[in-house]
Amino acid sequence: MKRFTRFTRLTTLSALLLAAGLNAGTAQAQLAPAAATTAPASAQSEARKANIVIIGTGGTIAGAGASATNTAAYQSAVVPVDKIIASVPEISKVANVKGEQIFQIGSESFNNERLLKLGKRVSELLKQPDVDGIVITHGTDTIEETAYFLNLTLKSDKPVVVVGSMRPGTALGADGALNLYDAVLVASNPDSRGKGTLVVLNDEIHTGRDVTKSNTFKTETFRSPFGPLGYVVEGRTLFFRLPARPHTMQTEFDIDKLDKLPEVAIVYAYGNVNPASVDAAVKNGAKAIVFAATGNGSVGDYMVEPLKAARAKGVQIVRASRTGSGVVIRNAEQPDDKYDWIVTDDQLPQKARILMALALTKTNDPKELQKILWKY
Ligand code: DGL
Repeated sequence: MKRFTRFTRLTTLSALLLAAGLNAGTAQAQLAPAAATTAPASAQSEARKANIVIIGTGGTIAGAGASATNTAAYQSAVVPVDKIIASVPEISKVANVKGEQIFQIGSESFNNERLLKLGKRVSELLKQPDVDGIVITHGTDTIEETAYFLNLTLKSDKPVVVVGSMRPGTALGADGALNLYDAVLVASNPDSRGKGTLVVLNDEIHTGRDVTKSNTFKTETFRSPFGPLGYVVEGRTLFFRLPARPHTMQTEFDIDKLDKLPEVAIVYAYGNVNPASVDAAVKNGAKAIVFAATGNGSVGDYMVEPLKAARAKGVQIVRASRTGSGVVIRNAEQPDDKYDWIVTDDQLPQKARILMALALTKTNDPKELQKILWKY
């Protein structure tokens, strides 16, 4: 990748303030208190423009429809990242950006190999002193899995923001341009450092750990059960909460040391679920099965034996819930101690799958695995 060529490290004003021993932000507030409340879009970039790499992976934000009224039926992953960036000229006022196309796919096509490739490239870029932050354009369908994976494995406190859109750029009311602008603002803001991998859409900043897609077509689809971390509005990045669980620098997982992720399958529970789905997962080499169970991880009477049989073959069994939120209580619906099973904390099945895959690179002891599930 080419190096950034245009750095506006310090404006004359900032240089003078620094020379005078003043913090630029504080001094600006002292000099012009009124401006702080009506901060223009470029306010946070006045001291210096951040250098942001925007990695394109596809999704609706790179999508195009046949007509402007096609808001939900269109082709995703067709517009190159450089073209998306060029369509939002306002971005250049807040950051020096560079595009890099790593994939051009719908996010449903992410798999372990692609996840690792993306993570390793992000890690490589974060190590460059001339890169201040990363924005990843991504399909919304699996944004929550990628963001959780990066949140757990990147070893940097520089901001990494994953962004998508629900409508293609060709649609009436397209949301991608503002989402991308907001994502660059968040990635450029020093306040975003040390907060783990973030997801920005629809004026909100979410932690990659909590966020999930909750609606198939609405722009207001992303939700975190405990609320977003903050807002992006009028060019301002506003944080109100901090992630409580360990992330990035604080975890035992390191993207640079991961070459392969163990196979973890999800078996979805429903009335009349076929026990053969458990056997199929075992035959396909699953090292763990996340059972997306009903309610508080309840398991149908005809499913207990197949799951116990899988455990007897060495496969880890994780009880999760298909309800969409809440924690699964150990030894409540099922005797986990007796069966040597594990429960999720509040991780949705698809997030538990990511965490279990990482956890299995560290240990195969179910007690240790349980601790990991409760920690992250
Ligand atoms: N299939 C989808 C994906 O790439 C398009 C949906 C979207 O990005 O909003 O995840």
